[in-house]
Amino acid sequence: MNKLNAILQGDCIEVIKTGISKNTVQRSICPYFEENGFLLYNDDCLEVMNRIATNTIDMIFADPPYMLSNDGITCQAGKMVKVNKGDWDKSKGFDKDVKFHEAWIGECRRILKPEGTIWISGTNHNIFQCGYLLQKLNYHILNDITWYKPNAAPNLACTTFAHSHETLLWAKKDKKSKHIFNYELMKHWNDLDDKFKNTDKQMRSVWAINTSPKSEKEFGKHPTQKPLDLLKRIIIASTNENAIILDPFNGGGTTGIACKLIGNRNYIGIDTEQEYLDLTVNRYNKISMEACLSYE
Ligand SMILES: C[S@@+](CC[C@H](N)C(=O)[O-])C[C@H]1O[C@@H](n2cnc3c(N)ncnc32)[C@H](O)[C@@H]1O
Repeated sequence: MNKLNAILQGDCIEVIKTGISKNTVQRSICPYFEENGFLLYNDDCLEVMNRIATNTIDMIFADPPYMLSNDGITCQAGKMVKVNKGDWDKSKGFDKDVKFHEAWIGECRRILKPEGTIWISGTNHNIFQCGYLLQKLNYHILNDITWYKPNAAPNLACTTFAHSHETLLWAKKDKKSKHIFNYELMKHWNDLDDKFKNTDKQMRSVWAINTSPKSEKEFGKHPTQKPLDLLKRIIIASTNENAIILDPFNGGGTTGIACKLIGNRNYIGIDTEQEYLDLTVNRYNKISMEACLSYE
């Protein structure tokens, strides 16, 4: 059985590594959760990706740490609060942050199929580093999407424009290969809430989508949870049935939950924080339960 089948079947994946001590170290990584092509790993994304065979993943959506949790302030429910999301989001300084992004973006390139694509989300804190690295690592950038958030929080400090968008970089592994873009589906994606989408006209590169609604946070919230409407659009635009989709920074599992709602997609999600995987499992179980009830 090849490594990817082993992963998709929830087997433990092993690698033999040579540590600093030059002794060989063998460590198995077992899925934290596994059901019908939906896999979650509670580990560092590099450790898991290291064990995935080259040229095997169809699409990667990565919402990495933005490295913005450095004691700034933001507005939440009308109140001034610290912007801090968690230790995982603290900057370790420019050089170390770039090194971190280079390591995971490089590993993503190795495991993507030649025709595979990667999406990376970010703000000014991380997106220029990631864009530079995509080019350095010989990806070919297809689009930079502006995700405009009509309901973005106001800027309480009133010292800059109110931040109301994020950028999504979409790139393919190999400039010469034919990537998947479901053009017609996007042309007819008539989302009435997106004022930038003209009915049955080409989809443009500015998308208006609100931040995650309360209904997507019923099991608790991840501090940077993406809205399902955003991930559904991305997955339908850039994958077909039976695709293997990987999210190295699973968080509350929005990518996986969108895969499950769309159907016929395999999902591998990785996160270092167990509580976020538990949140993902709760969201997953709710959809499974609703699907069972609708059959009765
Ligand atoms: C920006 S959040 C992702 C949010 C997610 N897109 C969602 O919709 O909920 C980034 C996540 O990456 C995780 N993380 C940070 N460093 C990691 C690493 N080296 N390996 C795996 N996960 C990591 C954090 O715990 C956090 O949940």
